[in-house]
Amino acid sequence: MPPAPTLPHPPRQVEVIDTDPSRPLGERLRVRTVERAPLGAGQVRVGMLAMAVNPADLLQLDGRYGLRPTLPYVAGLEGVGVVLETAPDVTDLAAGARVLPLAAGGFWADERVLHRRALVPLDAATDALQQAMLCANPATAWVLLRHLAPLQPGDWVLQNAANSAVGQCVRQLAPALGLRVLNIVRRTGAVPAESAGDPAWVVDASGDGSTLKAGLARAREASAAPGRAALALDALGGQASGALAAALDDGGTVVVYGLMSGEPCALPAHDLVFRGVTVQGFWLARWFADPANRAHAKGLYPALAAQLGTGRLHMAVGAVHDLADAAIAVQAAAQPARAGKVLLRGAWWDRPL
Ligand SMILES: NC(=O)c1ccc[n+]([C@@H]2O[C@H](COP(=O)([O-])OP(=O)(O)OC[C@H]3O[C@@H](n4cnc5c(N)ncnc54)[C@H](OP(=O)(O)O)[C@@H]3O)[C@@H](O)[C@H]2O)c1
Repeated sequence: MPPAPTLPHPPRQVEVIDTDPSRPLGERLRVRTVERAPLGAGQVRVGMLAMAVNPADLLQLDGRYGLRPTLPYVAGLEGVGVVLETAPDVTDLAAGARVLPLAAGGFWADERVLHRRALVPLDAATDALQQAMLCANPATAWVLLRHLAPLQPGDWVLQNAANSAVGQCVRQLAPALGLRVLNIVRRTGAVPAESAGDPAWVVDASGDGSTLKAGLARAREASAAPGRAALALDALGGQASGALAAALDDGGTVVVYGLMSGEPCALPAHDLVFRGVTVQGFWLARWFADPANRAHAKGLYPALAAQLGTGRLHMAVGAVHDLADAAIAVQAAAQPARAGKVLLRGAWWDRPL
């Protein structure tokens, strides 16, 4: 086993000190250095390489997420790291190994101490920025497509905010399941250049439902077999939920997995009552917490990590900021029309072990 590296100056962490949304995001964070804790039995010190700034982080910063830690708390719901040192009883991971740490938060930091059980080994040859985005969005896309509604090859999956990281993953994972995807975005610039004119993309700024219905009809016409509009993935809530419900075929399922409109879901009772359309909420954390899903969850990350490695799964990166600039990164992540995900770099990003 290679010797543990000499650890440099104390690690930094980004703390949330206030979740009052009336105060600017940047003023609710502070970057602080902390003392290193000794490792306990079974523990591993992980040096963070890169961490994503997701809509869930922004919700948590506003006190609107499903988890509301006591203030002050260390921000950050996902990231990727490298093993710095291990407790003597951890024998299957060595310093230098790339790992995906799975925990309920606290990743916007230079270092984390976690139990070996919370670490999934990753391939060090894969792009660490992609691995930093592995935990939340690819897994969400996979579960949304595989585990929430009975789907047949040839079925259509409708998704709004289709240029989001989840949307990109849904699009990349669907073909292997024989599913077709209708992608709804709110602006023309969100349609990838290579998909310009593709009927599987609908630009719908109004959200009133008529553009979506017409778009779905066009996409079906253009495909060899019409297929059933069976599942709608809603990242927005508000009017968008109703537009999706109205566009689905009878018996279809709307899964609300995001709340980015900030509005209550406006659902047409007619579609729910007379056409058997059902609506359900989804949160990956709750799904994983259900013992019935443990077996699926175990193999999920290695399988998705392998797809990142081959490039079959790939999410756009907009910008990467140093951990010290977390406030700037958070403000950038809150902007509309980003080119891709905003990420943070931890101290171990460019430090050789
Ligand atoms: N339930 C779960 O377990 C779970 C897990 C992961 C993610 N999510 C949710 O999934 C959604 C996408 O997350 P992500 O990380 O993939 O997003 P992302 O990559 O950060 O992209 C955000 C997307 O949302 C679009 N958007 C934001 N507000 C909008 C609005 N009012 N109307 C239409 N489009 C809007 C943006 O469009 P523009 O480019 O036009 O600005 C952009 O495409 C979020 O709601 C997130 O909370 C849920």
